[in-house]
Amino acid sequence: MIDIRDAEPGDYDAYARLLPELGTGDPVPSRERFADLCDRMLVATGDGAVVGYALFELLADVGYVRNLVSDRARRREGIGAALLEAMRARFVAAGARTWCLNVRPGNHAAIALYRRFGFTAAYGSYMLRVPRHAAVAPVAGLVYDPITPEEEPAVEAAAGLLRGQLASARAKPGRMLLQLHHRGALAGVAVFDPAFPGAFPFRVFDASLGPAAVAALRAFAPAGSPHVQVGVEDHDALRDALLAAGAEIHLDIVHMRGATGTPPPARSR
Ligand SMILES: CC(C)(COP(=O)(O)OP(=O)(O)OC[C@H]1O[C@@H](n2cnc3c(N)ncnc32)[C@H](O)[C@@H]1OP(=O)(O)O)[C@@H](O)C(=O)NCCC(=O)NCCS
Repeated sequence: MIDIRDAEPGDYDAYARLLPELGTGDPVPSRERFADLCDRMLVATGDGAVVGYALFELLADVGYVRNLVSDRARRREGIGAALLEAMRARFVAAGARTWCLNVRPGNHAAIALYRRFGFTAAYGSYMLRVPRHAAVAPVAGLVYDPITPEEEPAVEAAAGLLRGQLASARAKPGRMLLQLHHRGALAGVAVFDPAFPGAFPFRVFDASLGPAAVAALRAFAPAGSPHVQVGVEDHDALRDALLAAGAEIHLDIVHMRGATGTPPPARSR
């Protein structure tokens, strides 16, 4: 019997055990940071133990599934589907008609699950790591400025971000919300986490400015960090410009979207 409940700070050890199953190589957030994640996390329990968790974000119109993991020893028992269904119910209750997520193209188990919930592939994205030593020529007139709360709707619209994505990022500890300006005009957006260090979302409209835009982020990263990671979404020219400047592909990703109103079919086994 699987139960779903809101996460609590005491679930940290289970979270730290399950998160590496995502295979992203991302560091496990600290216990302190975990406490901030609890209000957007669900856990699945079975026989008194935590056997899975899901992390989500509720934006203005869209539910964003961030993590979904079930215990390796308990796969194909319906835990992933139960967590997904619980998130879907929350999103529907909040009026979000669309939901979305990122998954690696080779993750056949997860993609099979998402397809059953009506998700389809929308576009490809890449997590790129730009080594600190990569030499990048600076671009004159390229600067980051903070995004104020009042500016969020206009910046989201100009950068093709989801409505509410910047407010949601602002609520997370330590995030820097930056707008990239080139000669005074908006040229991109970065939500940068110096603790990572990395930016996601990271948008640069003109791909040729990409390498200098990443190099400028290094100023906000802790000294000695070997690289800065950026998430390049649906922009192959920007990916290619960064690869040419010495970036390495850390992960490739498929962005999937679905309608929250699509109920999942019955279990196939
Ligand atoms: C993806 C994951 C969460 C699925 O969890 P799960 O608890 O095994 O999923 P469920 O038992 O609820 O499976 C529901 C349905 O998904 C599909 N599915 C799940 N695993 C599958 C697999 N290995 N192969 C094919 N289909 C699969 C099936 O349709 C399944 O229904 P069925 O068992 O009735 O056939 C789990 O494999 C996992 O934690 N993987 C590692 C972390 C990860 O990659 N997370 C996703 C990141 S985007």
